[in-house]
Amino acid sequence: MHRFDEITVDQLRAAGSTKWTMFPDAIGAFVAEMDFGVPPAVAEVVRTAADTQALGYLPAADRTAAKRATAGWLDRRFDWQVPEDNVYLLPDVLSVMRIAVQRFTPPGSPVIVPTPAYMPFLTVVPALDREVVEVPSTLGEDGRYRLDLEAIDAAFAAGAGLLVLCNPWNPVGRVLSRDELTAVAEVVDRHGGRVFSDEIHAPLVLDDLPHIPYASIDERTAGHTITAVAASKGWNIPGLKCGQMVLSNADDVAAFAPYATDAGDTVGLLGGRAATAAYTHGQDWVDDVVDYLRGNRDLLAEMVDQIPGLRLSPVEGTYIAWLDCRELDLPGGPAQFFRRHAGVALTDGTHCGAAGDGFARLIFAMPRPILRRALERMREAVRSRDAG
Ligand SMILES: Cc1ncc(COP(=O)(O)O)c(C=O)c1O
Repeated sequence: MHRFDEITVDQLRAAGSTKWTMFPDAIGAFVAEMDFGVPPAVAEVVRTAADTQALGYLPAADRTAAKRATAGWLDRRFDWQVPEDNVYLLPDVLSVMRIAVQRFTPPGSPVIVPTPAYMPFLTVVPALDREVVEVPSTLGEDGRYRLDLEAIDAAFAAGAGLLVLCNPWNPVGRVLSRDELTAVAEVVDRHGGRVFSDEIHAPLVLDDLPHIPYASIDERTAGHTITAVAASKGWNIPGLKCGQMVLSNADDVAAFAPYATDAGDTVGLLGGRAATAAYTHGQDWVDDVVDYLRGNRDLLAEMVDQIPGLRLSPVEGTYIAWLDCRELDLPGGPAQFFRRHAGVALTDGTHCGAAGDGFARLIFAMPRPILRRALERMREAVRSRDAG
């Protein structure tokens, strides 16, 4: 019995997260938050700030500490050496994405988003008055998605300036291999394009695979990439608002210098100190979480097998499952069906791009007994539908 098994739905609702309050009658599986609390070192940061009533701006020494902690973690975990001065503290990963589009691409150039995609990628870009080019990825017989490099190549040839890469890949759970990333680099390089690499899920690799920061591969990728990382998914602190942008070449650092003071370090005291604590003292905690998530992922695979017509893409990383419900042809779409008939709140795949029609996204970072209940209810809902 793991301590996470003992967390109850009542406790989660009382804690008041979005995931557990938006649909008070359903099991919340639609927001990428974990139900496992936070590492002790992070709780200590928040407690101390409250006790000392220190809730002001982030002091310079703490800012430097957070950048150093980020660079240290990237070096230790992924063998990627970046100078701490190339790390910028932004409130979140989507803020980094906005900078990547606005500051590092030709004005007006379209943005390529491989789908299925993390939903906000598809709305942030139009909000910046840029066109999104959705590039549906290919779904193999093995249930794994692969980037459609020919279509990405064509989109660059047609004038796109930036490719949005998400690795580990929300929502389809892939952890891209060095060969796959190198093949991407060739396409981007051929067109003089840029990459925004969202690696927020890097701490959450479940299979025995390396997470390879895209910019760390070679000079070319370092030269064309803006990377975003954050402690917010791995250590479960998105509400504290601290993401990190990593620039990986001198030209980008120089180009961003005029904006760095106003736009480069914009987080508050809690976010900055919590990120430092997570990166510096949180490895054991996240190791335990990854172990637990692996067990959840295995249970999910086993139970999805018991629902005829439902298929799961293999989850190599993240705590997000991508369910292929097309064969079930559920009335109103999968999210509405399971919300109504199973009391499980999922994200409808269509929010992840047109390629997501007939799919649903399930966040499985929940206590295992609750996950089991959610899947039993989904199984029953499909059975009753078929029987009726
Ligand atoms: C791939 C990905 N990018 C970005 C985010 C959002 O991060 P932030 O709150 O730092 O913008 C999420 C949250 O689920 C995510 O899964």
